[in-house]
Amino acid sequence: QQGDPVEAPAFLAASYACQRNTPQPGHNTLLTAALSVLAESAELNGDEGRGLAFRRSEGLLRSLDRRVQGLAELRGLPCLGDHSRRVIQDLLENGVSSEVEETKSSPRYKAMKLLTGIFGVGVKTAKRWFTEGICSLAQLETSGHSLNAAQQAGVCYYTDLNQPVSREEADAVSVMVEGVVHSVLPGARVTLAGGFRRGKMSGHDVDFLITHPDEGKEEGLIHKIIACLESRGLLLYQQNTRNTYRESAKGAGRPSSSMDRFERCFSIFKLTNDSSYTADNGTGSGGRPWRAVRVDLVVSPISQFAFALLGWTGSKLFERETRRWAVRERSMSLSSHALYDRNQERYLRASSEEEIFAHLGLEYVSPTGRNA
Ligand code: GTP
Ligand code: MN
Ligand code: MN
Repeated sequence: QQGDPVEAPAFLAASYACQRNTPQPGHNTLLTAALSVLAESAELNGDEGRGLAFRRSEGLLRSLDRRVQGLAELRGLPCLGDHSRRVIQDLLENGVSSEVEETKSSPRYKAMKLLTGIFGVGVKTAKRWFTEGICSLAQLETSGHSLNAAQQAGVCYYTDLNQPVSREEADAVSVMVEGVVHSVLPGARVTLAGGFRRGKMSGHDVDFLITHPDEGKEEGLIHKIIACLESRGLLLYQQNTRNTYRESAKGAGRPSSSMDRFERCFSIFKLTNDSSYTADNGTGSGGRPWRAVRVDLVVSPISQFAFALLGWTGSKLFERETRRWAVRERSMSLSSHALYDRNQERYLRASSEEEIFAHLGLEYVSPTGRNA
């Protein structure tokens, strides 16, 4: 049966990504991969607004429950601007988008991707280096720029850190982290967050959220964990911060702010190719019997755990959209620490993610549906 496109079901027509179920990888990977390149290119140019527009298009397409075959099927759907629709049309008609191909082969995009692929190097630094003509690691090395500790580690482990972390490797890191956490604080709980909690099969790092059922027991925990990891020779690099979060009478901080103030540690683990870990790709570059893996450790008091879990599960767009929904549709500000109701002028407590969605008037979306 041909003819008119079917009316989009309400949850697909929803304009906020947090109102939709978005599985990984979705049924339109050709389209989402292309839009992701354009989003990334805009982000690397420092054009956040344009990047966000492409991310929203990408998210919408990933949430569709079948493969799109013609532009007409997208009629009436939100989040798809003229530019995205042109790219989609190109892909549907020709199998490729000339704009995406040009972007991918442009010297600027390639250099910016390579430079921001160094741990510790953000868009601003990469831009400055690129302007000076630096396009490769070799050129960076001979440029005479002094690198900070994070960037030095980033260059040193560049190949390993740019090789995706597999599920098996994430599980092996989980075993290591759980062992260490339980040895320094019995009863503490370790939860896998980030992309792996969303069901992704690979990631750029492994994210963990750590808490203890007795509020206060978690204070200072990050230092004990780091000391134990170091004594076992498991850390190649770490940078930690202590908890600076305080509830204020005026309510949670800026809703758009994505930074939180938990005790945390951005680190690089030394994952050895031993019995707990049997993946074939388990060796690092240069034939070492171990590889470097990026690991984020975040410690949350139990009273904030649900918010921290929601905040550290992602995806980045899902988080952004949830915060935007909270402010615009509910006059609430949501962070990884708390939810503040601006009308009632009070914090809303929650001990599970389900309760937070309920406070926000959103239908619950399970972690595997948050891949916007
Ligand atoms: P891959 O690691 O690339 O597989 O994807 P990911 O979704 O796990 O990304 P990432 O590890 O960068 O981040 C995981 C989640 O933590 C995302 O939802 C981020 O928004 C969130 N996140 C990352 N850094 C911060 C931060 O400094 N503060 C807060 N609150 N959240 C952060
Ligand atoms: Mn991650
Ligand atoms: Mn991370």
